[in-house]
Amino acid sequence: MQKKYLMTPGPTPVPAEVLLTQAAPIIHHRTPDFSAAFMQSIEGLRYVFQTENDVLLFASSGTGAMESAIVNCFSAGDTVVVCRNGKFGDRMKQISEAYGLNVVDLRYEWTEVCDPTDIATALEENPGVRGVIVTQSETSSGVLNDVEAIGAIVKGYPDTVLIVDSITGIGAVECKTDEWGLDVVMTGSQKGLMLPPGLAAVTVSAKAWKAYERSTLPKYYFDWMKYKKNIEKETTPFTPAVSLVLGLQVAVRMIREEGLENTIARHSKLAEATRKGCEALGLKLFAPPEGRGSAVTPVWVPDGVDGKAIVKIMKNKYGVTIAGGQDDYAGRIFRVGHLGYFGEFDIITTLAALEMTLAELGYEFERAAGIKAAEAVFMGL
Ligand SMILES: Cc1ncc(COP(=O)(O)O)c(C=O)c1O
Repeated sequence: MQKKYLMTPGPTPVPAEVLLTQAAPIIHHRTPDFSAAFMQSIEGLRYVFQTENDVLLFASSGTGAMESAIVNCFSAGDTVVVCRNGKFGDRMKQISEAYGLNVVDLRYEWTEVCDPTDIATALEENPGVRGVIVTQSETSSGVLNDVEAIGAIVKGYPDTVLIVDSITGIGAVECKTDEWGLDVVMTGSQKGLMLPPGLAAVTVSAKAWKAYERSTLPKYYFDWMKYKKNIEKETTPFTPAVSLVLGLQVAVRMIREEGLENTIARHSKLAEATRKGCEALGLKLFAPPEGRGSAVTPVWVPDGVDGKAIVKIMKNKYGVTIAGGQDDYAGRIFRVGHLGYFGEFDIITTLAALEMTLAELGYEFERAAGIKAAEAVFMGL
């Protein structure tokens, strides 16, 4: 028997309380019981998103929420500014282009933070831009983009909506949807919400509803108005993912009990311990110091070490699943997730497995330096 540890930035571990709720016999969705759980889940999501705006819930992965933002806010030929510094920014560009939008492409290296002044310039130089699209927490690179600063810029443009992919941000980093003027914010269940994959949520501001009124792109399953009208009747337009919604009710209750501020502070500490632990082993962090998120820590594979072997040995020999690099960074970086249901000993365990793996691969470092550095963060030394 080997005990398993899931240390990826999605899917993430699911607490026993949530798992057990999902194991209960299925209930019908057109019942008062389901409606009560559904509405509590929606209210809980409002708390987590820090919003009074509409929150809509889909039976889909996160990409469904991304696509919904495009088809509900725009028309073919509209111009949008897409900021991209990783795989998921690339995806927003691909979805935008698939629907015939004209993309002003603000492309950065994966190791860079998107610069809000570039967005200000792009908006000045391209009158009539209908949307600005940004990934808050880039899971492929660990970079955190400053959506607060971007929100302050886009607020000055009444016909331009700000769309934020916070799929690995929500529940891990600060995301003040209303205060920062974020019109559409999205997340997915298999991330900070501590659920299995299968649900995605979006917030929709009054400005985004105006964009919806103008939008002529075709939509059906993801037509936001269908979801809004049904929520008013405490139900869903289509068969919901019943078990996941029941689990969501419990998961958001757990976040409320911890208190969102404490949840975010916990993530920040786990991320710091991971970073300090890796640096104590002589490893180099991938994301720049000015923009490191708390959902995932990507680390450069040291010279002379097989990056894919690190991930493989940790999983097969020690039962610790971390993520490799994506696209151009496959084999060149590895990523430790600490998003959602994670505690201090998950980090210690992962660093210990990493040390044992690196030693096996012939990398030289001071043994136990990583876990010692992480312990120091947890002990406040
Ligand atoms: C930042 C970000 N955006 C979008 C997605 C896509 O979500 P999904 O794989 O659930 O469709 C992910 C998933 O890893 C993500 O991390």
